[in-house]
Amino acid sequence: MKHYNLGFIGFGNVGRALARLLVAKSAELRQLYEIEWSITGLATRGMGWLSRPEGFQPSSLLSNVVDESSCPAHSIGINEWLLEARPDVVFETTSLNHETGQPSIDYLTAVLKSGSHAITANKGAVVYGYEELSQLAAGAGKCFYFESTVLDSAPVFSLFRETLPGVKLRAFSGVFNSTSNVIIETMEAGRSFDEGVRMAQELRITETDPAHDVDAWDATLKVCALAKVLMKLPLKPSEVRREGIRSLSAQRLQAARAEGKPYKLVARAKLAENGSSLNASVKPEQLGSTDPLGNVRGTSLAVHFELDMMPGLTITSHRPNLQSTAYGLLADFVNAVRDKSKVQGPTSKVQGPKSKIQSPKSKNSSSR
Ligand SMILES: NC(=O)c1ccc[n+]([C@@H]2O[C@H](COP(=O)([O-])OP(=O)(O)OC[C@H]3O[C@@H](n4cnc5c(N)ncnc54)[C@H](OP(=O)(O)O)[C@@H]3O)[C@@H](O)[C@H]2O)c1
Repeated sequence: MKHYNLGFIGFGNVGRALARLLVAKSAELRQLYEIEWSITGLATRGMGWLSRPEGFQPSSLLSNVVDESSCPAHSIGINEWLLEARPDVVFETTSLNHETGQPSIDYLTAVLKSGSHAITANKGAVVYGYEELSQLAAGAGKCFYFESTVLDSAPVFSLFRETLPGVKLRAFSGVFNSTSNVIIETMEAGRSFDEGVRMAQELRITETDPAHDVDAWDATLKVCALAKVLMKLPLKPSEVRREGIRSLSAQRLQAARAEGKPYKLVARAKLAENGSSLNASVKPEQLGSTDPLGNVRGTSLAVHFELDMMPGLTITSHRPNLQSTAYGLLADFVNAVRDKSKVQGPTSKVQGPKSKIQSPKSKNSSSR
């Protein structure tokens, strides 16, 4: 049995869903993978940097009762927190910054430098920090994984990484933003744009700022993340022709639905003739039912790949929810610790700045 200390940076919708899922899957993790875990570090903007080397009670975290008196350390920043919480794996689920990917990139950099695996749901980190974070991870013998950033838990990055060696991706299209889908369908049913936003917020699927969904930043960053990781092309968000869904009137949406070709926010990227640049866009498009993306409804998400070895490969995630997003992070966790046990033994952490506060040695000794 191996014990892993887990750190959470960000504990909103996704972070909490992951904590719930870890609890629900504890027995399977133990029985199938010999994985035991405890949450030794938790950080949010509001709560600051908390650590408890012997592990927080997940139930008290989920009920918002963090007993600070039982926390041996309330660190002043991430480096001290990493020393106190001593995580083997850190889950980073902070809010999206679509312009820089910060502070997510700085957090993940510190995590990898400290010798922990870094797992994120934050696409900003992939778009703006993929090269440096992957290099850092490779140098440290750790994993930088981010399956939940596109299509929630449906395998996209791990599919290419693990099962599609040597393929060349020529183009892809996708319905990447469930909030836009929900708003469009709410308006098709005769209700307002604002009601659609509220409905998506109730489902907890919007970005922290829903403008990032409706103005197509979320989908644009997903296009850039796929281009960067799967095509090795450094596509910038500013190079994607971007149009959100604000200009779609209820009348136009209802007419399109009646015609059998409803609107969706569609992302597309295709290799240019020269083979080294991409034509990319995200905009509302009418799709017929024969289109590979034509039957994506509600919170469902899909991507259609055109590969040299397969003319079309479509992955659809039917009505994913927060638990699905959390599962992407959990799968990354299992894959990261399994990968590491395959390729190398325990490693020692790179020493960061010495902490002023000495943590008592955890009774849960780390696997590393
Ligand atoms: N929700 C989804 O369906 C979904 C799906 C896939 C990917 N994602 C991605 O997952 C991430 C989290 O989404 P969410 O829905 O969980 O958002 P959320 O509910 O708004 O939670 C964000 C969390 O990050 C914390 N945070 C924000 N800025 C921080 C900072 N600078 N330092 C430390 N903590 C910070 C917040 O703390 P405070 O509350 O104290 O401000 C909060 O705990 C986003 O990057 C999003 O794009 C979300």
